[in-house]
Amino acid sequence: MSKPFYVTTPIYYVNDRPHIGHTYTTVLADVIARFHRMRGEQVFFLTGTDEHGQKVEKAAAARGITPKQLADEVVANYTELWKQMGMTHFRFIRTTDQDHRDQVQRLFKRLLDKGDIYKATYKGLYSVSDEAYVTETQAKELQAQGLAHQLVELEEETYFFRLSAYQDRLLKYYEEHPEFVQPDFRFNEVKRFVEGGLQDLSISRTSISWGIPVPGDEKHVIYVWFDALLNYLTGCPASSWPPDLQLVGKDILRFHAVYWPAFLMAAGLFQPTTILAHGWWLMGDDKMSKSKGNVVRPDTLLRFGNDALRFYFMRDMQVGHDRGFSFEGFMDRLNADLANGLGNLASRTLSMIQRYRGGVVPMPAAMDDLDQEMAKGLLAVFPEYLEKARANDFHAALDVLWTYLRALDGYIVKAEPWKLAKDPVNDPKLDAVLANLYRALRATALLVAPVMPELAQTLWESLGHTTKVAETTFHGFALDGPAIGPIGDPKPLFQRIDKEKELSDLLPPETPAETKLSLDVPEIREVVDADTFFKVDLRVGKILEAERVPKSDKLIKMKVDIGLEQRTIVGGIGKAYEPADLLQKLVVVVANLAPRKLMGIESHGMLLAASDNASKPYLVAPPSDAQPGFLVK
Ligand code: MSP
Repeated sequence: MSKPFYVTTPIYYVNDRPHIGHTYTTVLADVIARFHRMRGEQVFFLTGTDEHGQKVEKAAAARGITPKQLADEVVANYTELWKQMGMTHFRFIRTTDQDHRDQVQRLFKRLLDKGDIYKATYKGLYSVSDEAYVTETQAKELQAQGLAHQLVELEEETYFFRLSAYQDRLLKYYEEHPEFVQPDFRFNEVKRFVEGGLQDLSISRTSISWGIPVPGDEKHVIYVWFDALLNYLTGCPASSWPPDLQLVGKDILRFHAVYWPAFLMAAGLFQPTTILAHGWWLMGDDKMSKSKGNVVRPDTLLRFGNDALRFYFMRDMQVGHDRGFSFEGFMDRLNADLANGLGNLASRTLSMIQRYRGGVVPMPAAMDDLDQEMAKGLLAVFPEYLEKARANDFHAALDVLWTYLRALDGYIVKAEPWKLAKDPVNDPKLDAVLANLYRALRATALLVAPVMPELAQTLWESLGHTTKVAETTFHGFALDGPAIGPIGDPKPLFQRIDKEKELSDLLPPETPAETKLSLDVPEIREVVDADTFFKVDLRVGKILEAERVPKSDKLIKMKVDIGLEQRTIVGGIGKAYEPADLLQKLVVVVANLAPRKLMGIESHGMLLAASDNASKPYLVAPPSDAQPGFLVK
């Protein structure tokens, strides 16, 4: 028997309750897990929480409780939510679990004995805001950007992981396994990062105490990412190793595609796997995050049902890309696809079978061209859906299915079954129409079961089944087989949402009370007269190309269209933006700035960005209908 399909989610920090970003990753994993079960596979699905480290230590201190108390509280939030949403994970792992602590210490010791971890004194610069050591090149970049105040001199003993020794093995592995990171454009970013050179990684801290102690040297605690990544190992029974699919947000891809395989290679445990990096749910142009005060909690949306939220996530988000969230978009989608689309089709079909055939689904004796076309349509849609879902592209799979469901509406309009029912001469045609509609709904129940388990079960039962749809397998399902018996009681699938009413009732996204206090805003600069100011030529530009500057994690080289010409501009925005996310963005360019060289590349201009002294830069964005070349004045 083959190994169980092993799927993981990242483990969530316990400094905050879950929001819909976290919920999305877990829903995606659950949909994939359920899909594989219905393919007849055994599945092992792991999720959990990341409880150590400075973030959690600070959040607990701010509340006047211990980190463990905070973790227990937030874990209760997570487990309650996952239970309410019917998640089918096998284990909820906590990094404070004893077996995990033992595992991390054991592995640390093993790599230490082997020489892949070594102790050394770090003497150099440290970035306070990034909580990380800074290379000379990085320091120069920070200085060039006027951020030198973030740097402090530091001398401390630390344990290093010999990451540099794995650069070639990683690159070779990437080369031989094009499926390792999906989507491709994210994989390219990873490759470029590694090609730029890997430095050994500090994996212990003496400045914090909330963590797993280094075995035999307890004043050091193990760096939270070394600890966290190993959860996938601790949480997995040997029979399921290695993970088949690891879901991560794009912000944590580097940890999973570089550090994690290197740790495993060092431990001799590495085996090929796939990492799928999804994009973010955005509010406006921004990632949802507590500190930005634009967080939507799942409870706000769950009153429309688990399935509603699951469907919306899968239907609207193209895995890999970012997607803007809006309450209106959420409700429009559900009304269009579930209340109208599928819901309406099911209720019309079932009531016709009830009315015209006493609840008994007919077997068609003959089909005309139109009936044949619809029947063939289903035979094509079913495998196409499965293929797309197997590639984790539920967005495309659902699109294929809903296009077919819309075609069925057209089929009803053309066939006019209510007219056919008036004359028994038309019985064979009416039988064909009813059978086609029935079969389409039956296949739909099966296909959407991983996405909407409850709705699919309701539909399945309305179609006359007494079994669990989730226990049926796709393989070998007779799409044109007879109905199991008479249809059951039709139940409404989805209650239409009164959008106007709900919009006025919905809570606005949370606004954090403390945002203002935590800003580190610089003083107003010296006064300049208007003439001086107007010397600066500010233009709307559009980013056409963007790539990272090798050996730099701050600098991005871009080609920017400023209407009159295209410019090469190098910007220090690499920590805040991924190149792929910059493409086609409108920006404001300082167009008459003297050119200057950054890491050997001549930059012709600068992009305007907003930030305080501590935060990342936020690119200033002109409205979407502004044109490259417009003067900003
Ligand atoms: N603890 C680390 C992961 C360690 S895994 C060994 C962590 N935790 S997190 O709670 O900050 O984020 C967990 C996941 O949620 C990440 O994959 C992140 O991308 C995802 N999301 C957080 N906000 C998100 C959105 N707004 N949209 C979609 N997913 C996002 O990172």
